[in-house]
Parts: sequence; structure tokens; C-alpha cells
Amino acid sequence: MGKSVNIAVVGSGYVGLVAAVCFAEMGHQVTCVDNDPRKVAALQGGDTLIHEEHLPELLNRYRNTKVTFTTDLGSAAENAAAIFIAVGTPQSETGDADLSYVEAVACEIARHLTSYKVIVEKSTVPVYTNEWIRRSIERNGIDRKMFDVVSNPEFLREGSAVGDFLHPDRIVVGADSERAAQVLQDIYAPLTDGSYYKQANIIPGPFSADAPPPLLLTSTKSAEIIKHASNAFLALKISFINAVSNLCEATDANVQQVAQGMGLDSRIGPRFLRPGIGYGGSCFPKDVAAFRSVADQMGVDFSLLTEVERINATQKKRFLAKVRAALWTLRGKKLGVLGLAFKGDTDDIRDSPAIEMVQMLLAEGCSVCAFDPAAVERTKAVLPESDKVSYSTDAYAAAEDADALLILTDWAEFGKLDMKKLRTALRYPIMIDGRNMFEPATVAAAGLTYYSVGRPAAH
Ligand code: UGA
Repeated sequence: MGKSVNIAVVGSGYVGLVAAVCFAEMGHQVTCVDNDPRKVAALQGGDTLIHEEHLPELLNRYRNTKVTFTTDLGSAAENAAAIFIAVGTPQSETGDADLSYVEAVACEIARHLTSYKVIVEKSTVPVYTNEWIRRSIERNGIDRKMFDVVSNPEFLREGSAVGDFLHPDRIVVGADSERAAQVLQDIYAPLTDGSYYKQANIIPGPFSADAPPPLLLTSTKSAEIIKHASNAFLALKISFINAVSNLCEATDANVQQVAQGMGLDSRIGPRFLRPGIGYGGSCFPKDVAAFRSVADQMGVDFSLLTEVERINATQKKRFLAKVRAALWTLRGKKLGVLGLAFKGDTDDIRDSPAIEMVQMLLAEGCSVCAFDPAAVERTKAVLPESDKVSYSTDAYAAAEDADALLILTDWAEFGKLDMKKLRTALRYPIMIDGRNMFEPATVAAAGLTYYSVGRPAAH
């Protein structure tokens, strides 16, 4: 499968860990570095720490052989041809990305630079970060010829991160030197030349040896902007359909039909046109804010992004108003809640609109019994059990004796729930679905009153 490259990945979060095991799956030798010794010990022992399809399988296949874990960045960097920086870039109070972790790693790499290295920025960063990394390494006394800085943004989605990594719609390499571009092309060759897809037992996905994914070579600045622009555009698509859903509600139209009609136009496409309670997660809210902040700093008017954020915030308030309209008053009402994660197939609750919604309902005086297939434990750290908050181990128990059942996360398994059983469990037969999981007629046929997003209520 082509030549094996020695790679160091700094950071073992979603992006770093997934990249590390996937590079091993592509035939490379990887050292994954994290400054948290407990995390390193857990990973060495085979605990992935995050809920992600295929990750346990790949970690077990390669840990302590093709992927090793360490806290020692120095020796990992010295032995590697390419060092991927995949540390967090959280949102600062001003909306900018906080790049202090990236800077600290760049300085640490500089201290151990003894031969030519390609330093690859994989975290989501604003344009010009590559230049800052370069400058900070030079400030540490390293000659410009000893390294190159490359931007290789990641487009993986939580829940399907491994599949996305090994079957990417595109691989973007922003490099300002041919030497560095070649190292990245060698690393991704098993995917781009199709050899990975010829093997047995590969992670399944859309690409094959005959139709491998494309690699796009750009300047470093373009690559940085591609990442932010892509996430901001997807967030814009969601806010757009959410605004359309509000118009559908006002006119008794059906947003699912409208989205289908729009999505069949190949220039628009059907994906990311699902209305709901707004986007969340660790990426979209932070990246839209950071992109807007970059535009502001450059003196470019991009107030469209402010509108995207405003619509997203309003969408949650509209859902709360919908619950209020269905139940008349909220104080003292007992609600069953299905879904806490920011989207289905993940236990991640960072910036979860579901949790924000629960907090809003608690502030209105409701009590909540919540169920989520994977995110309950993480939620308990934010919303501890109390006389107002309880958790159940299945969906029917969450509905038990509730004044209404709310659906806040699009877990596929919720789509298979037995409506009659829910109807029996509920005190009042009311379902308020923030994710449009069901056909209104099916829910109504089971004797429930069904409110959803951008569609007429069904009785
Ligand atoms: C997102 C992007 O999809 C990835 O391409 C990107 O690599 C990643 O951010 C990142 O920057 O790391 P992710 O945050 O895992 O991935 O989740 P998405 O599947 O994009 O969903 C984001 C939010 O939008 C969720 O709250 C989801 O429920 C919501 N959403 C998504 C909608 O409300 N409607 C839709 O049609 C699609």
C-alpha cells in the first residue's frame, strides 16, 4: 500500500485520535502525543474515551504496534517526517479561536527540531495561523529551511469520523512548498491511488480503487479558509431551512416537502436541509463565530454570518414557544425528553441544543425525565439528578406519566419507537418533535397529538 511514513499526531481528541488510527490503517507508523498521562494510559489500554463507530476496532488492531501513545512530544517529533497538530482551538470570549494550545505545541516542536519536518495544522484554525506557527518556530531559533508548515483541514463528522477520514469527499492540502506537498501526497497516497480500497476488511464507504477520493492542492491560506467557509456554509444551509420552516408554519405548508423539492435540484442538494431546533456541537457554533471574527478583523462585511447565528438562536426559542402553546402553562409540568446529545450517534453534549432546551424548560418551572442512548452520563455532569431532573434507561420510561414527550436529538432508534406503547405511557397524549422524526399521520393514528417543525400539527 505505498510507503510507510513516520507520523506524529499531537492531541488525542476526536480529530487527533481518529487521524492516528486511520493513518495506521493506511499503513503508516504513528505516535500519538497527549499531555494528559491518564488519557495516554487509557488509550494504551484500548479505551477510546469517545463513542465513535469503528474506533474501538481500529484502536485494538493497532495500539502498541502501529500506533503508540506517549506524553513525550520531543521524541515523537524527532522520529517523525510529519507532525500533525490536532489540539483544541476553543472559542474565546470575543468569538475568536483561542490558539494558545497551538502556539504551545509549535514552541515545543521547535525545541526538538533537529532535521527537516513538515508541521501540519489539522485543528480548525483561522487564516494566517500557519504564518504564526512559522514565525513562532523561527523565533525559537529554527532556520526556515528546516521545516514547512502545511494546512490539512479535517472534514470528519462525529459519529462517522472514521468512515469520513478513510472515505473523504476531498483531501485538502494547503502547502507553499513542493517538498512539503509531496510528503502529504505520500501520506494520503493509499487513499488517492486507491490501494487502500483493494484490501480485505477495509472500513466501508463510498470510495473504491476505481473511484478514489480527490486531493486538492492549494495555498495554505486557501486551505484554512476552505475549512471555515465549509462549516459556515453548512450552518447557513441549516439556518436557511429553519427560516423556511418558520414560513411553512405560518402558511400551513410542509417543510419536508419544500426541502425535498429544493434538494432535488443538484445545485442545492438534499443534505443539511433538515430543519430542527438549531445546529450545535463543538464545531458549527464555534467556527461560524470564528469566521465572522476573522472577517471583522480583516474589515470585511460578512453580516450574513451574524444572521445565521441569530436564526439559530431564535429556532430554540421558537421550539420553547411551541411547547408552551401545546401545554398552555409550563410551571409544574412533567416532560419526557428523548435525546440529549447534540445530534444522533454520538455521546457528545458540547453546545447541544437539546441540553439548552432542557435548561430553558427547567427555568420555566418544568421537571424533566430524559433518555439518551449514549449521552446520559455526560449530561449528569452538567445537569445532576434532582427533584426536577431524572434520567431513564429507555424511551418508554421517560414518557411514563409525562404531560408531553419531547424529541430533541435525531437518534435513528427513536424512529422505531412503538407509538401505541408511548401513548399508553404518557399522561397526556402529546408529542412535540424538534427533529421531524415521524410522519405526522402515523403518530396521529396512534392517538397522539403531534407537533413538529415546519409542518401542520396532526391530531
Ligand atoms: C461538522 C461538519 O459536518 C464536519 O464536516 C466538520 O468536519 C466538523 O463539523 C468539524 O468541523 O469538525 P459535526 O459537528 O460532527 O460535523 O456534526 P454535523 O453532522 O455537521 O451536525 C452539526 C449540527 O447541525 C448538529 O447539531 C445537527 O443536529 C445539526 N444539523 C445537521 C441540522 O440541524 N440539520 C441538518 O440538516 C444537519
